[in-house]
Amino acid sequence: MNSVVPNPAAAVAGTDSPPQNWRIAALDALRERDPVAKVEAVRALDALVKAQGAQSDERWNPGQRIEAPADLPGRPERPELVEPRLLQRRSMSTPQGRVVLLHALAHIEFNAINLALDAVWRFADMPEAFYADWLTVAAEEAYHFSLLRMRLADYGHVYGDFPAHNGLWEMCERTRDDVLARMALVPRVLEARGLDASPPIRARLKQAGDDESAAILDVILHDEVGHVRIGNHWFRYLCEARGLDPHAAWLALAGQYDAPKMRGPFNFEARRSAGFDETELETLAAQDAEAQAAAEARKRPGGARQ
Ligand SMILES: [Fe+2]
Ligand SMILES: [Fe+2]
Repeated sequence: MNSVVPNPAAAVAGTDSPPQNWRIAALDALRERDPVAKVEAVRALDALVKAQGAQSDERWNPGQRIEAPADLPGRPERPELVEPRLLQRRSMSTPQGRVVLLHALAHIEFNAINLALDAVWRFADMPEAFYADWLTVAAEEAYHFSLLRMRLADYGHVYGDFPAHNGLWEMCERTRDDVLARMALVPRVLEARGLDASPPIRARLKQAGDDESAAILDVILHDEVGHVRIGNHWFRYLCEARGLDPHAAWLALAGQYDAPKMRGPFNFEARRSAGFDETELETLAAQDAEAQAAAEARKRPGGARQ
């Protein structure tokens, strides 16, 4: 087992010699602050790894523990990060409202690049396929970010023009010491929420006549099913390796790490395609029914208030 401090000068793209240590290269991409350069670094590394063919390659260095640098994640000066309650919500029927939404989605995708890269470099002793999977996810997130960035440009805006919140990276930090917690709570909770959120947002964009933005949502939903499936796969792999029951382990981790409450409506079809099993879907349906019944009860005259 060896330990290294990454070299900040090492770059993925634009150098003569390709990186020999792919997890360090992922960390360098994570540290990159400029969004366009980050996207390029991820694309270059993904292309390099895919060109080499084999998922099982010693250049992942699974046995290597890499020291965390202090400057994570690399992100631009803007957007300004604020409390979620301070973010504006606007109707999607106006161009300004759609820009705010597209910017929020771009911010999610920018964070998603960082989250996937973090899974690549941070966790030692995983199979090479784990690193290859999360680099593929990072490359798809980079593509999603690029699509939204271009769409924002159509509206005369750039990423950074509106404030954003830091909730996604905070969950990444909270789960930095345990790959099982990371798999349980980032892909299976945060990314899975995207599966539920996409169809209604897409429908409202369509209704507003913004077919191009709606088409981007189609691409994202398609790919996100794959990301959640990858998360489910590795979550179950780790549960098996540790002799844990996946359902009990998930409930325990959700409590321990204060996972956001799951609220419907749920996209059961997408969640099923993403590898959630029937027991997990039934649990979600029961939680949703309970929440709806409580909401109905509150609406009735004299209903309980919480
Ligand atoms: Fe994405
Ligand atoms: Fe994703």
